[in-house]
Amino acid sequence: MATQMMRNALAGVSIHGISKSFDSAPILNGISLDIRDGEFLTLLGPSGCGKSTLLRIIAGLEQQDCGTIEVAGVKVDRLRPKQRDVAMVFQSYALYPHMTVSENMALPLKMRRLSAWQRLPVIGALLPKTCAVSAEIKTEVVRTAKALGIDHLLAHKPGQLSGGQRQRVAVGRAMVRHPAVFLMDEPLSNLDAKLRVQMRGEIKELHRRLGVTFIYVTHDQTEAMTMSDRIAVMLNGQLAQVASPRQIYACPADRRVAELIGSPKINLLEATARSEGLLTVAGSALAVDNKLDSGSSVTLGIRPESLQPAEWAGLNTLTGRLRYVEHVGADLFAHVDVPGSSEPLVARLPVELASNFQSDQIVHLQIRREQVLLFSADGRRVSEGDARVTPLRSYAQ
Ligand SMILES: Nc1ncnc2c1ncn2[C@@H]1O[C@H](COP(=O)(O)OP(=O)(O)O)[C@@H](O)[C@H]1O
Ligand SMILES: [Mg+2]
Repeated sequence: MATQMMRNALAGVSIHGISKSFDSAPILNGISLDIRDGEFLTLLGPSGCGKSTLLRIIAGLEQQDCGTIEVAGVKVDRLRPKQRDVAMVFQSYALYPHMTVSENMALPLKMRRLSAWQRLPVIGALLPKTCAVSAEIKTEVVRTAKALGIDHLLAHKPGQLSGGQRQRVAVGRAMVRHPAVFLMDEPLSNLDAKLRVQMRGEIKELHRRLGVTFIYVTHDQTEAMTMSDRIAVMLNGQLAQVASPRQIYACPADRRVAELIGSPKINLLEATARSEGLLTVAGSALAVDNKLDSGSSVTLGIRPESLQPAEWAGLNTLTGRLRYVEHVGADLFAHVDVPGSSEPLVARLPVELASNFQSDQIVHLQIRREQVLLFSADGRRVSEGDARVTPLRSYAQ
């Protein structure tokens, strides 16, 4: 156990230049990523972008066309899945329906610690050491099942379990091996919304308790934002950005990342630079810190919470007609049609303001200084720092 812990303590994962095509269609295109020992890293991206393919390559279930994978500083490209110090939890859980929970959980340990002969039903038991190893495996299965609160289910078959219980068994089957790295492929996607929230917390707690590296795949931005130390955003077979959830939200590298994170989605408005530091957008004028060439086109990104009601039209204030209001408990979402945009602008406002907002009325929304982002025509964010809207006072000086 001590050796196991020492080995686990060094278990980062390095991915270098991984590419993969299926039927000559490129799916992964030169992915490189260093995942730190003990880190909770989430691969986030839309369905079909290649997340599962990358995870399966790390597990050894799929062969890359080029590039290398290192686990704990050791190249694993030539190792079979069971020889790699990783364990995978599949989206479908992949439990064997004819085996009990106990047998399902014991399987990876049996495959690893018993020879093919020792695994034979009758002869195996007669071979030396089979009984001792089998007893150790049983103890480990029971210990893990207790830790996950499923020890009362060990004699059940998967078909007799709820979705949440099956999910725990799948996690337990990965845990019994004490892997250095957990690979989880959308493990919560088959659960209902309430259970998903609960299991999110449980997986995070499991990560904290085990202290080993987790690589977690999801298309759900809330899961990525709430669980991860860092998020790697995958788009079109490449990594668009790798950063902490806060950085990804506040400083997205490009507009596709900005659109992927945040609910409701970030507002994107086409704007034109007029004179130094001034933009026209949706018929209004906006002062920004960035120095842009006059006449150049940019896209302005404004999060729904970066807008607040204003009494008058003016600098840094957008004016439009209220389409409708959505109530979501403490907040309301005001959908406002503004000139030059086919999509309504969405503002997140305190629910106390509901009586001030009637459909079809003209409303003014002041843009908050923080979180206003500028994207160039190629989608990249214009500058490294936030493109902050200059307050009216300093602009007038
Ligand atoms: N074994 C395979 N053969 C052919 N195409 C595949 C195979 N596995 C995945 N793909 C294709 O690769 C793309 C990425 O798949 P996948 O990695 O499962 O994406 P994600 O997990 O992000 O939804 C999809 O278009 C999928 O159809
Ligand atoms: Mg997938």
